[in-house]
Amino acid sequence: MGVTIKTADEIGRMRAAGHLAAEVLCMIEPHVQPGVSTRELNDICHDYMMNEQQTIPAPLNYRGFPGSICTSVNHVVCHGIPADKKLKNGDIINIDITVIKDEFHGDTSRMFMVGKPTIQGQRLSRVAYECLKLGIEMIKPGIHLGDIGHAIQTYAEKNHCSVVREYCGHGIGRVFHEEPQVLHYGKPDTGVVLKPGMTFTIEPMINLGKRHVKLLPDEWTVVTKDHSLSAQWEHTNLVTDDGFEVLTLLPGNSL
Ligand code: MF3
Ligand code: CO
Ligand code: CO
Repeated sequence: MGVTIKTADEIGRMRAAGHLAAEVLCMIEPHVQPGVSTRELNDICHDYMMNEQQTIPAPLNYRGFPGSICTSVNHVVCHGIPADKKLKNGDIINIDITVIKDEFHGDTSRMFMVGKPTIQGQRLSRVAYECLKLGIEMIKPGIHLGDIGHAIQTYAEKNHCSVVREYCGHGIGRVFHEEPQVLHYGKPDTGVVLKPGMTFTIEPMINLGKRHVKLLPDEWTVVTKDHSLSAQWEHTNLVTDDGFEVLTLLPGNSL
């Protein structure tokens, strides 16, 4: 298939899907409290998507994934499966929402602090957010994806954090995960050259300890090998004629 260039009509539909995904994160925020289980968070999001938004939760049954959202707590890097374990004071959690509306996907995730934030949790979440923001702000026609990966890696490592290599951002549109792969590490002047109409996510997974990860026997949950904390933020982005548009920001919000 290669890297798809979206038409004006398709961009309008991507924007709508992106806003809806952002709305789910906004809706769930007050529910992220000590004592709530990730399954409860999943069910609230599922009902909101299906019944309020008339969107489809893309993760559900995607390659067999058993939830409607991903909930990744503390040392879970990504693809955490919603379950009955309750959140507790000081936990950090990434909630990753992907909706399908009018055939198009919107994919976004963010960190939440449960109860009273810890210094370490807050620091890691901030570094991961800054990695996403600086990557997005580089987007414009003519740059290489490797420029973005290199900048993210440099910032993370300067802050004594590490970048997960095994999972990456991705092109997105009618297909959840399409070309190109968007690595969060790399070398300047390498990889795909950006063109107007491309849509892709940036979603750096940043660890407080070493970068290495392992997959749990459930074949979904990815954790840090050294059990250090991990954080991730994600937006779906459009390359415009002179820069970028973040499709998963609610109108009026800025990075
Ligand atoms: N939303 C994730 C991403 O950012 C993918 C989740 S796939 C699932 O690409 F199957 F785990 F849901
Ligand atoms: Co994604
Ligand atoms: Co996602």
